[in-house]
Amino acid sequence: MAQLQGNARADYVRGMFDRIAGRYDLMNRLITGGQDHKWRRFAVQVAALPARGRLLDIATGTGDIARETLKQQPEARVHGADFALEMMRVGQGRRDGNMIDWAGADALRLPYADASFDAVVSAYLLRNVVNIPQALAEQWRVLRPGGRIVILDTSPPPDSLLKPLINLHLKVGIPLLGRLVAGKAAADAYRYLPESTALFKTPQELARLVEVAGFCDVRYRVFMLGTMAVHWGRKA
Ligand SMILES: C[S@@+](CC[C@H](N)C(=O)[O-])C[C@H]1O[C@@H](n2cnc3c(N)ncnc32)[C@H](O)[C@@H]1O
Repeated sequence: MAQLQGNARADYVRGMFDRIAGRYDLMNRLITGGQDHKWRRFAVQVAALPARGRLLDIATGTGDIARETLKQQPEARVHGADFALEMMRVGQGRRDGNMIDWAGADALRLPYADASFDAVVSAYLLRNVVNIPQALAEQWRVLRPGGRIVILDTSPPPDSLLKPLINLHLKVGIPLLGRLVAGKAAADAYRYLPESTALFKTPQELARLVEVAGFCDVRYRVFMLGTMAVHWGRKA
């Protein structure tokens, strides 16, 4: 599944998230041992949104980045966009759902004018898109000069003594949890996560792509034994 390309991959990803929407938040907490809030908090902090600034949470899913933004900055103007409408429907019913400006959108063709946002944050988007440079170019386009891009995503497990244990969690633990919590119909989604993580860019490679897209001051920090990374940079 993670090897699919082009429209077939995009259709697969959208259908998969729509199917697991009801159990997505619970699965996140279980897979990460509740650590995911910490990474989202950090991602919103490094977005450095100005007072009453405008932030786009692209691939918002159920809106966790958008909600974290409102928690840190209640006066921010927060937009959440995703192509899986069922994920956003679940998010709309949750806390602060009515404070977020939701939109059905493809990250490769954003329905926003140039220079609309002070920050664009994505969590677990780039690993799923069929064209990373195009997704970064769209984020560059909708950012104001000086605005920040922030990317939270998984990273392929780095070589270490713990790599076999990490792979066991990824390849056995997560698919098993997925089957138990989200049911048989969602089992492929939790096989897709480790597969797409293994095929994704290392933090160094991703930082380079962000620079090539035109961003400056690109930095990153890794978490969870190097299996999670937050990158950030600035549109000059
Ligand atoms: C793993 S979920 C992450 C959701 C949320 N950002 C979070 O932190 O929980 C990945 C999301 O990316 C969305 N997505 C993937 N490719 C996309 C694309 N090309 N355009 C818009 N959304 C996309 C999926 O629909 C899904 O909701």
